[in-house]
Amino acid sequence: MSEILKIEHLKKYYVKKKMFSSKSSIVKAADDVTFSIKKGEVFVLAGESGSGKTTIAKLILKSIQADSGKIIFEDQEIDNQKKNLEKIRMNCQMIHQDPYDSINPRMKIGDIVSEPLEIHNAGNKQQRMKRVIEVLQEVKLEPAEEIIKKYPHMLSGGQRQRVVLARALALKPKIILADEPVSMLDVSIRAEMLELMKELQTKYNISFIYITHDLATAKYFGQRIAILYLGKIVETGPINQVLENPKHPYTQALIDAISEPDPENLHKEKRIRIKEAQETGNFKGCRFKARCLYAIEKCSVEPELQKVNQEHYSACYVKLD
Ligand SMILES: Nc1ncnc2c1ncn2[C@@H]1O[C@H](COP(=O)(O)OP(=O)(O)O)[C@@H](O)[C@H]1O
Ligand SMILES: [Mg+2]
Repeated sequence: MSEILKIEHLKKYYVKKKMFSSKSSIVKAADDVTFSIKKGEVFVLAGESGSGKTTIAKLILKSIQADSGKIIFEDQEIDNQKKNLEKIRMNCQMIHQDPYDSINPRMKIGDIVSEPLEIHNAGNKQQRMKRVIEVLQEVKLEPAEEIIKKYPHMLSGGQRQRVVLARALALKPKIILADEPVSMLDVSIRAEMLELMKELQTKYNISFIYITHDLATAKYFGQRIAILYLGKIVETGPINQVLENPKHPYTQALIDAISEPDPENLHKEKRIRIKEAQETGNFKGCRFKARCLYAIEKCSVEPELQKVNQEHYSACYVKLD
């Protein structure tokens, strides 16, 4: 598989003003982030809320500007030239966590799905309508001829998220950036939506960046994963390897948090491998140090990603089992 998208040393810092004070602090929303995605691959960006996932998605689509770093799509660096912005925005579509972030409640479904086609001047009116019907059928919103006449409030939450998926698919993108696409849905319909995304991903060999804080859905959908902590990738590799043999204490803590309690071991103390601490952007050395149970003196120097094996990397000096 060849690489379709490369992200190199992407950096975005925010200055946050402290309330009721003249002081400010720096938030490192993306801190030297590097990864690449192959054609047809599902790459997961996982981490807690505030770890920088949405920032990275917005940087890729150039809806916000990076302080530094490169985005390379199909071997072409995406700078701010109009033709390059158009190229990335046509080929790379975003699905937001909240459907209302991307659909206008006053527009009919047909117009919502057709909008990206209009923006990018794809086909004439008749061809666009044909594509809208086709893509609504793909996401199993039927009868499509009826659905196009409805308004978003007339649909269920799950149906609205399918509209968002249809809209993202309309231009036949090569990459879909899905930012927590199922986290606002009822648990009962999450699996259905994930299955649909997987089916269409496979059918059209679309590359996905699947953004989530939920490692269970990540494992179902993804092939490789990067674990983000305060804007930095602290562990990355093939998803089964990272989740079954995590090397970074933060990844281990995330996995502990979701693992089912083992009835045989209920009497044993649950492993708690993370300390409560408020981080700021003003850390020195390893950014996880304040919460880490294994921190050693060396951790006052920021660890870089080190090879665990093949494609598996972790940014930690301590060799954990
Ligand atoms: N426009 C902004 N101004 C200031 N800080 C921001 C802005 N956008 C995001 N941040 C901060 O950057 C960090 C990463 O945010 P975000 O990318 O939204 O994380 P995630 O999507 O993982 O929850 C957070 O600390 C957030 O408060
Ligand atoms: Mg987010």
